[in-house]
Amino acid sequence: MKKIAILTGGGDCPGLNAVIRAVTKTAINKYKLEVIGFKDGYRGLVENMWQPIEMKDVIGIIEKGGTILGSSNRDNPFAYIKNRGDMPVDMSKKCIQNLNKNEVDCLIVIGGDGTLTSGRDFSRMGFPVIGVPKTIDNDLSATDITFGFNTAVTTATEAIDKLRTTAESHHRVMVVEIMGRYAGWLALESGIAGAATAILIPEIPYDIDKLCKVIKKRSDNGKSFSIIAVSEGAKPKDGEMTVSKVLDYSPDSIRLGGIANKLAEQIEERLHIETRAVTLGHIQRGGQTSPYDRVLSTRYGVKAIELAMQGVFGKMVALQGNKVGYVSLEEAVGQLKTVPPNCELIDVARSIGVSFGD
Ligand code: F6P
Repeated sequence: MKKIAILTGGGDCPGLNAVIRAVTKTAINKYKLEVIGFKDGYRGLVENMWQPIEMKDVIGIIEKGGTILGSSNRDNPFAYIKNRGDMPVDMSKKCIQNLNKNEVDCLIVIGGDGTLTSGRDFSRMGFPVIGVPKTIDNDLSATDITFGFNTAVTTATEAIDKLRTTAESHHRVMVVEIMGRYAGWLALESGIAGAATAILIPEIPYDIDKLCKVIKKRSDNGKSFSIIAVSEGAKPKDGEMTVSKVLDYSPDSIRLGGIANKLAEQIEERLHIETRAVTLGHIQRGGQTSPYDRVLSTRYGVKAIELAMQGVFGKMVALQGNKVGYVSLEEAVGQLKTVPPNCELIDVARSIGVSFGD
């Protein structure tokens, strides 16, 4: 083991830089390895765009959101679209050639399901790959927690806290749209932490009449404001998720969004209570990485290098209970971890009176 390459793929999230830092520090300080980083996710691997990563490059980045390497959630090396409108081309062999040309002994891919799936496929082609699980959505089934999630929960909770004071002053309903794609974890945790009246998630389809009843009852009981935390993927009973865009150039082409506006209109129309919609959007992906995520990312980064040094490839590092272990990349991808409708966290929320609109 002489040279490690890193890439960060998919939507960015807080903690990516902390992983890059931990990988680099462990690789250089402990094992005297060389580290390089491919730029902008798999695009850099296809196009052979990379930069050396030295100790000086990772100073002062543990807390910074984003990624010093750049990222992309558009580029699948197995169906690569160089320019919008081009036909997809399988560039996987070119990627392996680039890795070999640069004498890379192990590729560390830091990403969500899409990035890790390509990592698995390079591993199937015989290249030594190790995955590190990131995403604010926390929707990877083989790890208890992905890094980035804790920071996003903190950001969303702080936003709800701020919205509560204005909702209270104006006696309004605030509908707060929270990211998470097809999983409701982010809305669920920030909704509980932010004392939301109702939390709507994709896993529990809501009934608008029942939701309105809850708001009405609250208002009849003298509580003149309500906070509704809604996942971007929430859907009504017998209805569909709200899609904001379909991007034909992106491997995962659906972008969700717009449910908060819809709900705000419906609530106002039915109850005649002033209602506003706020979409938190990409704010949830930025900002200072939380201490929890800094530590988790550091543990993941160190573990990735330890696995590389032991020659254990084709794996993804994972949090299992309190321990950082690993699972095979084969097991790690393809199955989203959604919120089980009867899980403990849902019961806890129901016990304290949170409505799921069902
Ligand atoms: O997967 C992370 C995520 O932020 C989702 O929560 C959201 O649906 C999506 O990415 C947004 O993607 P984009 O950055 O392409 O708008």
